[in-house]
Amino acid sequence: MGCRSGRCHLRKWAADTSDLHGLKHIAGSGNLFRRLVWLCLFLTALGFCIYECYLVFVGFLSFNHVTQVDVLYSTEVEFPAVTVCNINKYRESAFTEDDIKNVGVHLGIIDEDHNLLLPELYTDEFRDFIDSVNWTVVEEDPDYNMTDFTIRTGHQKEDMILSCLWKEEPCEESDFQHKLTHLGNCYSFNLQGANSDEADWKHSYAAGAANGLQLILNMETPEYTPTNDLDGGAMDAGLRIMFHYPTEPPYPKELGFAVAAGDHSFISMRHEKITSLPDPYSECESDGADIITHFDHYSLQACRIECETLVVVAECGCRLPEMPGDDDVCGPADLHECAHPTLVEFITGNLDSAESCECFSPCEVENYPFTLSTSRLRLTYLEALFANTSTNFTAAYIGENIAVVSMYYEALNFETIDMLPEYTVATLLAVLGGNLGLFLGASFLTLAQLGEYCFDEVVGWCICTPKKEDDDKNDGGNKVGHVPTVTAMDAWGAQKL
Ligand SMILES: *[C@@H]1O[C@H](CO)[C@@H](O)[C@H](O)[C@H]1NC(C)=O
Ligand SMILES: *[C@@H]1O[C@H](CO)[C@@H](O)[C@H](O)[C@H]1NC(C)=O
Ligand SMILES: *[C@@H]1O[C@H](CO)[C@@H](O)[C@H](O)[C@H]1NC(C)=O
Ligand SMILES: *[C@@H]1O[C@H](CO)[C@@H](O)[C@H](O)[C@H]1NC(C)=O
Repeated sequence: MGCRSGRCHLRKWAADTSDLHGLKHIAGSGNLFRRLVWLCLFLTALGFCIYECYLVFVGFLSFNHVTQVDVLYSTEVEFPAVTVCNINKYRESAFTEDDIKNVGVHLGIIDEDHNLLLPELYTDEFRDFIDSVNWTVVEEDPDYNMTDFTIRTGHQKEDMILSCLWKEEPCEESDFQHKLTHLGNCYSFNLQGANSDEADWKHSYAAGAANGLQLILNMETPEYTPTNDLDGGAMDAGLRIMFHYPTEPPYPKELGFAVAAGDHSFISMRHEKITSLPDPYSECESDGADIITHFDHYSLQACRIECETLVVVAECGCRLPEMPGDDDVCGPADLHECAHPTLVEFITGNLDSAESCECFSPCEVENYPFTLSTSRLRLTYLEALFANTSTNFTAAYIGENIAVVSMYYEALNFETIDMLPEYTVATLLAVLGGNLGLFLGASFLTLAQLGEYCFDEVVGWCICTPKKEDDDKNDGGNKVGHVPTVTAMDAWGAQKL
């Protein structure tokens, strides 16, 4: 009795050619019991192997990631941009009659009858000034310029920044740039244009306060004007400072930190770069250039500012003075009745149309984590220091108004936090290979053997099919390499598996 040639080929292949570990014993000519034990072992190993490979594939397809933290040492580290704002937006003494007539009611300073709403919150000079306003002509000016009003009545650079030392040397006038934000006038140190040369940016070459920035700032608290503007009624007196990457726009109202008068604040920071993997690993924006139109580089702040602008312009038909773009700036009435309420609703997330404007963090973020410590200022010492200058403040005034802020790197290294895929194609192959090898002793070449076997079978089948089985036995062997020998076939037939 001959056997079916296909089964014989398979067994011969399994016993002689295949490198799969168990197969030799299963297909070999040992006793039946041993072969069954080997079959069980083989099937168990195969099951484990399939399960492990399944887990690896699931991990690969669910785009898991791992995080790698590294610390790089460097001899120079880029200094961040530092934006300084007063928490108060408008200065009392800067109001003119024209301002009061146009914005007084809308900002909640005076009521319809031209009386101060909360007279006890203002200085005597301001009350006298309100009393002296000639209300005979009260028409509002349709062309009243809110941008001009915000810049003119905001805190001025020369009043606010009394002293600036960069690495113990006085700063240059051009080191600070004026920026309008939700807090009004702000001044940014080391703010750079998108195309500026990075070599010209400020760098620290050593850690410590002497290699950083020191500012002496005057908050001008007697000038604070309570209004119903965004943060105009803030309960604090102080400054808001924000660190950001030099090409990113500042957004100090939401993202800054505060310093108080009468204190010397020491802010020691570190530099941290976070790199995330784009979709499908995480929801980060790898190239947001097409999302934003008013800024050259995508950043979270730029996107938030864009979104706010879009929403306010869509709702009110005009923009706030601090917003970018070519749309008209809102007049005092629009600002109070539409733009500010819309903005507040948007920021708090209560606006329905807000969903159309989502900002994802960019895939590469530069952070400046810091620690802040303070000491009290020696008021009499500062009084003496200022005595013979144009800013000859008294000790009491200094305690209420002057803050000294030192900002510097705590260590001259930067941390990189990288998100890496848990499985790349290379690790996938390595893990698959490990599993196949551990459980089955199989490798890529085992697959090649299987392929070769199939190829031979197909070729053999094509050539032999028209012939009889007897011919196959005798002649086929010469034509095709893998046709089994008579002995093997007889052995198969005799055991009748
Ligand atoms: C107030 O202004 C009107 C119109 O300009 C003028 O006629 C009037 O004399 C002014 N009154 C005072 C008290 O200055
Ligand atoms: C408003 O004032 C700003 C700043 O002074 C100026 O740049 C702008 O051109 C003015 N806008 C109009 C419409 O006059
Ligand atoms: C300020 O001027 C006075 C009088 O000219 C002088 O006696 C004093 O030493 C000066 N103080 C400082 C700190 O320069
Ligand atoms: C401060 O200086 C001004 C002018 O320089 C002077 O009139 C004033 O009396 C000085 N105040 C104090 C407290 O010394």
